Amino acid sequence: MVDSQDAPPINNLFSEAKAFIACMEADSIANRMLDAEGGSEVRLNAIAQEIERSGTYTHTPKELQFGARLAWRNSNRCIGRHLWRSLEVRDFRDAHAATNPTDAVNGALQSHLNDAFNAGRIKSIISVFAPRRPDGSDALRMANHQLTRYAGFRMADDTVLGDPHSVELTDQCIEYGWSPAHRTQFTPLPWQFIIEGERTPIMDVFEEQPDLFQEVHLTHPDIPEFRSLNLKWYAVPLLSDMAMKIGGIVYPFAPFNGFYMGTEIGARNLSDKDRYNALPAVAKVMGMDTSSNRSLWLDRALVELNRAVLYSFDLAGITIGDHHTLGEQFEAFCQAESRKNREVKGDWSWLVPPMSGSLTPQFHRSYDNEVVRHTNFFYQEPNAPKKNKASGCPFHL
Ligand code: ARG
Repeated sequence: MVDSQDAPPINNLFSEAKAFIACMEADSIANRMLDAEGGSEVRLNAIAQEIERSGTYTHTPKELQFGARLAWRNSNRCIGRHLWRSLEVRDFRDAHAATNPTDAVNGALQSHLNDAFNAGRIKSIISVFAPRRPDGSDALRMANHQLTRYAGFRMADDTVLGDPHSVELTDQCIEYGWSPAHRTQFTPLPWQFIIEGERTPIMDVFEEQPDLFQEVHLTHPDIPEFRSLNLKWYAVPLLSDMAMKIGGIVYPFAPFNGFYMGTEIGARNLSDKDRYNALPAVAKVMGMDTSSNRSLWLDRALVELNRAVLYSFDLAGITIGDHHTLGEQFEAFCQAESRKNREVKGDWSWLVPPMSGSLTPQFHRSYDNEVVRHTNFFYQEPNAPKKNKASGCPFHL
């Protein structure tokens, strides 16, 4: 059996383009955009000719807009997808060709971060940069996992100061000349671009503009001592290392953001043992006996930490979702889609939140985890892509 992924690349590109255009046609709003440009048949002919001539094809602005939104809708692991139509799509496909590409990209990303924060009313935005070329090369990538993230400094005694998730990137930044003014539990990482496969000098944007790095100090509605833990997190999750694919065209650098669901911070980033591991300290300020598992002290600390996250974001006037509300909204979205005969695909192990799973609708049902390959977000190898390296994982390119 020959799978479509094994087909010659150009045929595969055209068949993925066709699958994407078919999705546009099937969507009443997007179909109007297609019609305005002559309809799907005309468009597919033009695409076929362009592929024949150049090995690739160029999305129209409307295709880019609908495609990025569809890529979000197709992301099996995301519980916020009911908002897919609200995504603001910014077209920076030419930014790398500016006289000074670093400045152009830097400016685009700073505006993205600032506009996404939007004084606390977080707006979902994606900035789309140059597509991968037919020879597999990328004009522009970034070394960072997210635009805002805390460094993880490896200490002499093998412990980590900061976020252990960032240790490798932090080492790399230091190797490329970063000398942080302070090393703390929460030091913002600088940025580094990779232009035509070459790393650019480190840019410590947040040292220069601290206001761009919006964060929330955690306090608790009825445990005053909670404040003394000095915990905080940043406001905008803005992923910068995933590839977006639309109708077979890969955009290796297309940073995007949504808003946080509280559990991402409270039940993972701050509480995972191999991240900030804050639960023992939370239990301590709550005065709990931590000597036995049977008291469920870990679970109780987890709940109070998550209350503090939601409470503090609310107090700061910064958008955040809770797993009950987002869980209900996602289920309502699935039901509405299903009534239109569009079964929402999903990854159960990601859609069920990392605490109180059985309190959400997601826990009590199953999802088809088939990954739509033609238009989606994917993990990718850092830096330049290696040829012929298939991992077999459907969430990887
Ligand atoms: N889980 C990641 C983090 O904690 C962010 C992933 C994207 N999340 C989102 N709400 N859009 O930083």
